[in-house]
Amino acid sequence: KFRNVLIDSKKNSSPHLEWLEGLLNSFCYQLIIITIIADYQCQSALSIFPLVKSQPGAPKSPQEVAELLIEHFPSVSAVSDIGLTGPGFINITFSPDFLCKLMDNIYRNGAVFPKPSHKKRIVIDFSSPNIAKQMHVGHLRSTIIGDTLSRVFEYLGHEVFRLNHVGDWGTQFGMLICHLEDKFPDFATESPAIGDLQVFYQESKKRFDEDEGFRKRAYKGVVTLQNGDPTVTRAWKLICDVSRAEFQRIYDKLDINIEEKGESFYQQFMPSMVQYLESKGLLTIENGRKLMYCMEGKPPLTVQKSDGGFTYDTSDLAALRYRLIDMKADWVLYVVDAGQSLHFELIFEAAKLAGILDPTKHRVEHVAFGVVHDASGKKFKTRSGETVKLQDLLDKAVQHAATIAEEKRAESHEPGSSDVSGKHEVIAYSAIKYADLKNRRTADYSFSFERMMSLKGDTAARLLYSYARIVSISKKAGEFLSGRPPLEKLYHPSEVFSFFRFHFESYDAHSLQIKLIKQTLRFPEVVRAIVEKDLMPHGLCSFLYNLSDTFNIFYRDCKCVEVQEGTVIKVNINRLTLCDAVAIIFRQCFYLLGLKTVDSM
Ligand code: ARG
Repeated sequence: KFRNVLIDSKKNSSPHLEWLEGLLNSFCYQLIIITIIADYQCQSALSIFPLVKSQPGAPKSPQEVAELLIEHFPSVSAVSDIGLTGPGFINITFSPDFLCKLMDNIYRNGAVFPKPSHKKRIVIDFSSPNIAKQMHVGHLRSTIIGDTLSRVFEYLGHEVFRLNHVGDWGTQFGMLICHLEDKFPDFATESPAIGDLQVFYQESKKRFDEDEGFRKRAYKGVVTLQNGDPTVTRAWKLICDVSRAEFQRIYDKLDINIEEKGESFYQQFMPSMVQYLESKGLLTIENGRKLMYCMEGKPPLTVQKSDGGFTYDTSDLAALRYRLIDMKADWVLYVVDAGQSLHFELIFEAAKLAGILDPTKHRVEHVAFGVVHDASGKKFKTRSGETVKLQDLLDKAVQHAATIAEEKRAESHEPGSSDVSGKHEVIAYSAIKYADLKNRRTADYSFSFERMMSLKGDTAARLLYSYARIVSISKKAGEFLSGRPPLEKLYHPSEVFSFFRFHFESYDAHSLQIKLIKQTLRFPEVVRAIVEKDLMPHGLCSFLYNLSDTFNIFYRDCKCVEVQEGTVIKVNINRLTLCDAVAIIFRQCFYLLGLKTVDSM
């Protein structure tokens, strides 16, 4: 907006603005949020000054530049105050009327975003567990973060391809297939009941580690699979189906929508990928292995093993080519633990060298995340030292939520609600997701049921509670829900209040409501920051947490609906509109974070 104002001023071409000629295109403008002194601060005068100071008649200091900008700032009803501060900062304060209008717009039209000028095609590679292995907490993080990023991009109007790069082509298949052949010799005609795939995996791993003959067969099995042998392919499919059903149960619980395009999908492109790299002279052969050295001092990628088999590296190169060239993606994001940073660095570099990835056109990023520890700060393991089953973790969380609800009920001596169907699940899964998302993505964090489900502190439970409160206000107001006048001023003439009340109650109430509105209105910039800055969702969590804090004070200090003996005797319509607009933003944030809501806690 500020930039447009400057362009308008340029059209009117006042002599004072001659020094702005030719500058507007390279105009560097920054608005930063300062909530204490003003609403926003523009620091452009400082960056403009060095660019113009040598021109005849130019201002002599950044302050003078700022003064000129202020002088030519047209009077608009949106801005109630604009002033100079410090070495040339311009402070801008919005008028309450303008803020009310924006808030009213949310109440009437919802939290809608304008369509992006350039709709991007964005591939998000997330979750990506490995077939026949346990989906672990690392995959849970990837699933939660990847889902939220997908929701944010979709909300902003981009086209998102949520891809599950399942590990369904690795060396583990050799041993699994051989074990299946031995254990269920009739598998080609009858579908065997593999049962617990975990046990099946452990059995085959034991044989692989102990039996030389079996190991040799297993290695051969992978190559036979990669060459498309129909019987081996059938065995492979049977194993994948068992895992797939297990993963799907978790996705259903967590409400995750994702399309499976595992490593195996890219097999069809792998031989030509290797040939292409060879034809460009990018490969080196060492001990029969085809390697690609792409960064100095770093290990090479292995694109083909000596037995002809392909690797994780090959599938990622083929996948990146497919996504950028065939799918025409503008962005490809990999939500994978930080432990794989080197792998992605090498893959991206190799793709650049091969002319597949063009950094001036594509945004390709490893969206890395930290490790999850248990409550005592150790690696997340069961007591017997195994990785924690995700399924068990989710079930335990639901049990926990149910126990807390029961304790609360017993404390309050209220009869238990008969309608708890799904409520504990909502609370438990929301708690897990929020506890993950609220942390800086790249940091490690410790997992604690007690902490994440507490009603105190920065938790989903507390946010769900605040939301249930907001909704209950509107419910109470009943008939006043529709046909409301616009929120133009925080005190509408139709609201009768006495002179004394105005003086004693209103001043603070007014500033509190303005604070609530300003916080709510920051929503679009918080969402945009995720996309434009660092793909970190925690900013959205702290936004929501702060908003709920202010809302709780508003709820305590500003009466919206007065009820006497079960009858509504007075409703403050403007405050009701504020509540509803805040509720809309809450709902939208919950949606983006993948949290479901409950009407009561
Ligand atoms: N399956 C891998 C793992 O569990 C993650 C795959 C991530 N995506 C990729 N394109 N490499 O470690």
